Amino acid sequence: MTQVYFNGHWVAPEQAQISVFDRGFLFGDGVYEVIPAFAGRLFGLDEHLDRLGRSLDQIDIADPLTRDEWFAIIKRLISECASPDVSVYIQVTRGTAAKRDHAYPNPAVAPTVLVSGSPMAALSEAIRRDGAQAITVPDIRWSRCDIKSINLLPNIMARQQAVAAGASEAILVRDGLALEGAASNLFAVIDDELLTAPIGPHILGGITRQKLLDMIRGQGQIPVLEVPIPFDRLFDATEVFVTSSTRDLLPITRINDHPVGAGRIGPVWTALNQAFQQLKTVQVSP
Ligand code: PDD
Repeated sequence: MTQVYFNGHWVAPEQAQISVFDRGFLFGDGVYEVIPAFAGRLFGLDEHLDRLGRSLDQIDIADPLTRDEWFAIIKRLISECASPDVSVYIQVTRGTAAKRDHAYPNPAVAPTVLVSGSPMAALSEAIRRDGAQAITVPDIRWSRCDIKSINLLPNIMARQQAVAAGASEAILVRDGLALEGAASNLFAVIDDELLTAPIGPHILGGITRQKLLDMIRGQGQIPVLEVPIPFDRLFDATEVFVTSSTRDLLPITRINDHPVGAGRIGPVWTALNQAFQQLKTVQVSP
């Protein structure tokens, strides 16, 4: 089994043990990142480490490692993982305090740092042929969804509702707006324009989302607007897909048991996905 990096050491996963007083365990007081590597090469490394830095900054934890140190750890992980496509998981918590107290420990304690890697599977044959299903659920998360917090209970509950309904993703709806997925960003083609929610405190600014937007703006495949998607207009969409580091562009062909557009994978997803797969092979870190 591939070793994990845990607080400065490389150990077997079962040997990476935290205290019961770790604030991540007690309070969910920490943040995380998921960074993909394709064919052994990292995609969006700097953007992911920048976002980790922003998340840490927002919760007043100093970034425990330099960029070079993160890179060396991540490189070693992906080279040791048996699979060519790997998702690298980073978690930093505020660390272990002597007693449970909501306020930050004073003086500060050393953060707990975990970096692990796991094989990442490509989209299944069935999804690439027929697309996936989604459901919509009320967004019961907090108002700082831009922080990649390890507190994921609402996201977990939403995703589980999707799984129970035989769907692949739950689309979160707040104040009449379809914002993003439980673990993905949302795109919809409405009136021949591609729409996605703007960056703000109610969504996580996805790296895949940003890479896709930059690609489309560079190549001009389709007009793209960062505007809120009204929930009821979601059902006028001719195509819908969600994006994330672990699922790329996941085409959604049914929402709440209604077909999206023709209920089949459409030309916009097909063209964008093809260009994105190409981008993944060229825009890589060593
Ligand atoms: N989640 N929105 C939410 C709520 C997410 O959890 C994620 C990713 C995204 C997409 O971000 P990115 O393109 O940077 O992966 C959007 C990761 C994959 C996870 O929690 O496993």
